[in-house]
Amino acid sequence: MDGKSTPPPTLDDALAALRRGEPIGLPTETVYGLAADAHNPAAVRRIYELKGRPSDHPLIVHVADALAASRWAGDWPQAAEALAEAFWPGPLTLILPRAANVPDEVTGGQDTVGLRVPAHPVAQALLRAFEGGVAAPSANRFGHISPTTAQHVRDEFGDAVPVVLDGGECEIGLESTIVDLSGETPRILRPGKISRPEIEAIIGPVAEGAAGDSPRASGTLASHYAPRAQVEVLARAPLVARYKELQKRGQRVAALLRGQPFKDIEGEVLPADLAGYGHALYAALRRLDARGFEVLLAELPPHTAAWAAVNDRLRRASAPRDADGT
Ligand code: TXA
Ligand code: MG
Repeated sequence: MDGKSTPPPTLDDALAALRRGEPIGLPTETVYGLAADAHNPAAVRRIYELKGRPSDHPLIVHVADALAASRWAGDWPQAAEALAEAFWPGPLTLILPRAANVPDEVTGGQDTVGLRVPAHPVAQALLRAFEGGVAAPSANRFGHISPTTAQHVRDEFGDAVPVVLDGGECEIGLESTIVDLSGETPRILRPGKISRPEIEAIIGPVAEGAAGDSPRASGTLASHYAPRAQVEVLARAPLVARYKELQKRGQRVAALLRGQPFKDIEGEVLPADLAGYGHALYAALRRLDARGFEVLLAELPPHTAAWAAVNDRLRRASAPRDADGT
């Protein structure tokens, strides 16, 4: 690929690709999405093919505003209206009963649909011009780390996804908070920047984690969001001890520290504040992976509600993997 002589794709290129049924790389404020026309089943099937993702995993439909979102839902309860009013456009996904015309390819055959109104100006411009919904999972191969730059998307898919809109680095850097409003009690299925207390301030008490009978959702698989290297999460003092021990054994080990560097410890230092840390985390994991480290020791973040999304992603990154790496 000769990236230098080809001009970067424009919004019109992206719209034309969507209308032809081809997935595109789309920046959002959380992570980049692999977006396709949600009313085109063949285009949505192509997303699953490209990602190598099982086709019973549902996708989020992205639309320009809450009114458009309500048309994809079979029911639009007061809680949806209140959360949309408070947090859209923004990093929140609502799970609602699906409207009758939502393709099975989008919902993974379930009777619910995930809906989000992204805030990123490029995503907003695209959705307004497209006038439909785009189904978009994170633009990574199944089980990989979500992309937070256009280059990450190109690294994942190469020529198979020629149109990647470049919206710069994703500001938030962690996937959206998912709130399931389809059951009796609202439930947070995936923590994100919008925290549980912020949700509860709008709609009252919510449950957390997947319900026992809930559908399979890839973001809820234990080992999702994993770099190639093995990840361990430790407080600073045990981290330093473990680093030295692994180094002595000849392992290629790096640390992902928070706030302060540590003498003779190699790796990356992420900002101490939550916004800076979330923004930088996935890119740092990708860089350390690219350097070929076998083990990454991540410094344990604070255990507060605000840091729940970071703790969740580090826990998944450190979970034992299946033999196939997913
Ligand atoms: O921030 C985000 O949400 C990003 C950007 C691109 O918008 N998207 C994203 O999509 O993270 P994805 O597919 O990587 O993760 C979406 C999660 C998956 O775990 C999926 O199973 C779950 O949302 N999901 C989607 N629709 C659902 C539904 N109807 N019921 C339960 N879970 C659902
Ligand atoms: Mg994903």
